[in-house]
Amino acid sequence: MMTREQNEFVTRTGPGTPMGDLFRRYWIPLLLAEELQENECPPVRAKLLSERLLAWRDTQGRYALTDEFCAHRGVSLWFGRNEENGLRCPYHGWKYDHTGQCIEVPSEPADSGFCKKIKLKSYPLVERGGILWAYMGPPEQQPPLPEFEWTSVPAAHHYISKRWQECNYLQAMEGGIDSSHVSFLHSGELHTDPLHRGTKGAQYQRDRRPKFEVVESPGGLYIGARRNAEEGHYYWRITQWIMPWYTMVPPYGDNALNAHAWVPIDDENCFTWTFTYHPTRPLSEMELEAMRHGGGIHVELIPETFRPIINKDNDYMIDRAAQKSGRTYSGVSGIAMQDASVQESMGPIQDRTKENLVSTDNAIIMARHRLRKAALALQKGAAPPGLAVECHRVRSATFVLQIDVPFDQAKGDDLKVREGVLHTSI
Ligand code: FES
Ligand SMILES: [Fe+2]
Repeated sequence: MMTREQNEFVTRTGPGTPMGDLFRRYWIPLLLAEELQENECPPVRAKLLSERLLAWRDTQGRYALTDEFCAHRGVSLWFGRNEENGLRCPYHGWKYDHTGQCIEVPSEPADSGFCKKIKLKSYPLVERGGILWAYMGPPEQQPPLPEFEWTSVPAAHHYISKRWQECNYLQAMEGGIDSSHVSFLHSGELHTDPLHRGTKGAQYQRDRRPKFEVVESPGGLYIGARRNAEEGHYYWRITQWIMPWYTMVPPYGDNALNAHAWVPIDDENCFTWTFTYHPTRPLSEMELEAMRHGGGIHVELIPETFRPIINKDNDYMIDRAAQKSGRTYSGVSGIAMQDASVQESMGPIQDRTKENLVSTDNAIIMARHRLRKAALALQKGAAPPGLAVECHRVRSATFVLQIDVPFDQAKGDDLKVREGVLHTSI
C-alpha cells in the first residue's frame, strides 16, 4: 500500500516532476525506425513524458525530435512541409532545421536576423537496433547509448513491436515484475500458444504458489521465482528488472528471449514495447508469423495505428465460454492483451492507497522503492543507477537447481549476455 503522495510521486512523469527528471536521464525507446522510413517523410507525433513532440527526418536523413508547435502562433508542425533540410510551418512559412533552430521567417527582411533568436525545444534522437531512442535530459549528462542484447543481435534474430496501453506506465510495468500471475492469467496459453507449449518450463508452472527471492542487481533487481520441481529440486524463473522500466521475461525451452519496456506517453497512457530476440539463431518463419498475428507476447494492431484490435472499447472481446471451459483463464485471448486488460481495468492510474499486498508482491515493492530512492537521490545530485551499459548486457534465465543452492550465486554467468552462447532455459 502507498499513501496518496507516494503514489503521485512514482506515477507522475511530466516536466519538473521528480520521476520525470529521473526518466529524462535515460535513453528512451520512442519510435520504431520504420516509422520514419525515408528522408523528408511525413513527421510523426511523438508525445513522451507528457511533452508533445514531433519526430522527423530531414533531406539528408538527419533525425529530429522537436517541439510539436510552431514558435509563431502555435500551429502543430505535424501539418508542416518537410522540405530542403527543414520543416516549414504551413501557416506563414516559418522554417526550422533538425536542431529546432528557426532558419527562415519569410515575412521579415532576410538581414534582420530575427529568425536566429527563435529556436524550438529539441532533443537528440538516434537509431540503434531498429529503434529510435530519445534523450530528454541535460546535454552534459547524456549517457552512453543502450546496449541491450536485442539492439546488438543481427536484424533476423529479433522482432520488435510496440502497442499503446491505456494506463499509467507503473501498473503496466508491475505486471512485468509480478510473475506469479502467469500460473493464473496466462495458464491457458502455456499449453496452447505456439511459443510456449511443449516446454518443460510450462509444465512446472502448475505449482501456483511460487516463492520469490529478490536480490538487488547493479542496474535493478534479479527477481527469482521458484516452484517445486522433481524431488529435492526447484524450478527457477529469473526475471531481470532494469532501471527505469525494462523487464526481461524468463524464457521457455529454445524459444527466443522476450523483454519489455513501459514508456510513459503521459501519466495515463504508455507504450508497451516488446523485444523478442534469439542470441544464436534467426527467428523462424513460424515464430515470425505467430508474432505478427498476436502470438507469444505480441498483439495484432488496428492497421496504421498502435492500438490493439482487442481493446477497452470492445471489452477486450472477452469470451465467457472460453473462460468457463478454461481454454483461456480470463476469457481474453492472447497473453499481451490478457495483461493489458487487467492492467487497464485498474483505471488510468491505479489507486494504490486501497491495495493489499502479499508476499508475491515483494519485487513490486522493491522496484517502487528503488525508483523512488533514485528519484530522491537525483534531486540531491546522485547519478541514477542503470546507466552503465554493463547493466543492459544481462539476460533472464530458467533452470532447475537443488533446493539448497542460491540462484544468484550458482547462476551468475547465466544472467549475463555471453556473445554467441545460447541463453539458459528449460
Ligand atoms: S503559426 Fe507557424 S508560421 Fe505562423
Ligand atoms: Fe503477463
